[in-house]
Amino acid sequence: MSHLESHLTDATEQSNTSHQPPLVEDSDPSDADSAYGASINSTISASLTSSVLNYRYENGRRYHAYREGQYYLPNDEDEQARLDMLHHIFCLVLDGALFRAPLFQHGQPQRVLDLGCGTGIWCMGFADEFPESLVIGIDLSPIQPDWVPPNCKFYVDDIESEWAYSPIEHFDYIHGRALCGSIADWPRLFTQSLANLRPGGWLEMQEFYCHVYDYDGGIDNAPCLKDWEVKITEASRRFGKDLKKANVLKQHMEDAGFVDVQEEIYKVPIGTWAKGRKFKELGRYSLVQFLDSVEPFSLALFTRVLGYTVDETKIMIAKVKSDLHNPKLHSYLHFHLVWGRKAGELGRSE
Ligand SMILES: C[S@@+](CC[C@H](N)C(=O)[O-])C[C@H]1O[C@@H](n2cnc3c(N)ncnc32)[C@H](O)[C@@H]1O
Repeated sequence: MSHLESHLTDATEQSNTSHQPPLVEDSDPSDADSAYGASINSTISASLTSSVLNYRYENGRRYHAYREGQYYLPNDEDEQARLDMLHHIFCLVLDGALFRAPLFQHGQPQRVLDLGCGTGIWCMGFADEFPESLVIGIDLSPIQPDWVPPNCKFYVDDIESEWAYSPIEHFDYIHGRALCGSIADWPRLFTQSLANLRPGGWLEMQEFYCHVYDYDGGIDNAPCLKDWEVKITEASRRFGKDLKKANVLKQHMEDAGFVDVQEEIYKVPIGTWAKGRKFKELGRYSLVQFLDSVEPFSLALFTRVLGYTVDETKIMIAKVKSDLHNPKLHSYLHFHLVWGRKAGELGRSE
């Protein structure tokens, strides 16, 4: 094993919760309505009023209209393409699986909720794979397609508002992905999730921690990237929706009352520097995804929160992207998968 290989193997082993092998190892319902059988009474749910589509345009990007200003990333086609690529990356990490929680201990989950579903790609995948489940996706933006599996429904709503699903204890499985930076009050979100799960039901969060890990000191060749990470974290905190939260979600889930809480941390290289076919493929996508993230993450936070001009922000974006292309940079991210169960047995009264 080369020096680089053993170094990264050690780094992996030091993390108890790391599930993935070291970065070097991989060498080479159609009857949905009746299944649902209950109403969604949340704030605006089904109706797509014009105000929801009355998007805000700023600095060349398009932003959500419902609860305008609450979320700082755009919702335009470029952003949707980025989200779908992020979906692909999560699927690669999990070798094609959409979840880690042991969902099928008591048969197929009937009611599934996806928090902040984005383009709805995860919901549609789950609905296709499990036709007897009803999958509900909630988002501030109505950016999901019209032609979807019959057991998949989308609603515009704010997941940080009071939920009004009827009956309470409605869902067998609640899922959220890439929501760090979207949520002001994680403890409240998890408390609401717990209340809305059936006994025995699962909550799962799939997140990446917004820190660029350095493999071999190459980060010193990326000063703008380092500086950007510090500033964007600060901006997200001032905004009230901290980007760096993935590493505390397990604790928040336990504090909310979930049991059997598990966490796995996966290393995802940025770029093709790590050895092995799987990591090279992951790294190729994750570099493109990171490059495509710099502008959407920066524009609103730097101009609205930190007081940068648009030109200053765009110059900084160009420098950060240039750092990301530096071949001396051998960096990676941590993806955190966390899942926990509501105590009790999954039993149905109706
Ligand atoms: C980074 S995207 C992740 C999308 C999706 N979960 C995925 O993994 O592809 C975050 C999504 O959360 C949505 N969002 C942010 N705050 C929200 C809120 N308070 N209520 C509902 N959706 C929200 C955004 O509109 C956006 O689509």
